[in-house]
Amino acid sequence: MKFIHLTDTHVVGNGLEIYGAKPVRRLALAVDSINRDHVDAEIVIITGDLTHWGEGDAYTSFLSEVKRLKMPFALMVGNHDDRAALSEAIPSLPRDENGFVQQVINTSVGPFILTDTKVTTGHQGAYCTDRLAWLDRQFESIEDPALLFMHHPPFDVGIASMDKIKMQDGDALLSVLDRHRKKVRQIFFGHLHRMVAGNWHGFPISIMRGLNHQVRLDLTSDATIIRGDLAQPAYGVVLVDDDSVISHMHAYLECTPQFDLHNLVVGDDREFALSMRHEDWEDFG
Ligand SMILES: [Fe+2]
Ligand SMILES: [Fe+2]
Repeated sequence: MKFIHLTDTHVVGNGLEIYGAKPVRRLALAVDSINRDHVDAEIVIITGDLTHWGEGDAYTSFLSEVKRLKMPFALMVGNHDDRAALSEAIPSLPRDENGFVQQVINTSVGPFILTDTKVTTGHQGAYCTDRLAWLDRQFESIEDPALLFMHHPPFDVGIASMDKIKMQDGDALLSVLDRHRKKVRQIFFGHLHRMVAGNWHGFPISIMRGLNHQVRLDLTSDATIIRGDLAQPAYGVVLVDDDSVISHMHAYLECTPQFDLHNLVVGDDREFALSMRHEDWEDFG
């Protein structure tokens, strides 16, 4: 089974730019790419920061693009979103009994649990007792192991400015996840605008680049500044079966030179490849 992990689209209304790029354009190209290259994906999960300022115009623009996807999609909120504006744009948006944008989706490889880590004000994340109780109940009620999706990671990644706005209730979350350890296959996050993989207390984690702007690998600055750039946007292509969960990063706008390694026998292709100074190219000659 294949699904797409898309995150941090940060769409703004009226076709405006932020940080020197036009998010709705990058989203449109991502939708084109998914429909062309991954039309066999079962679902697209979009892990929050759908818009940058949470205004109605932005959700209208966002939806006009994601509705072109040829497969189902599911939405989550991030710190830049507005639950009321999103619900107005999508009246059928699934919400839990407390109004949080949380749901469980049954897929062909088991349940996907989508959570809401947004606080009322501020960019840090939270997971309050009401939400923890909801999550605990979902794990109680499912039989198969689940993939879990959250906007804010609850752990530090070494970038002080982003660590400051992580999800603040990591200890409480961990106690719930620990009780259901065998039912948590992998946790997917947004928010960081970087590709990050590893594990947290033994739970495998995967974080994907954003679609508009990225956060630079800055392990030395203090928490007062978030250093960004316009590195290529990407989405995750995730392959799941009984044995494994494999995440690929697809930088869908990348235009670097391409070639087939096994075909580098004669002519310009070979010269070009050798010029890239990979010592083992000779093995393919
Ligand atoms: Fe974001
Ligand atoms: Fe965020």
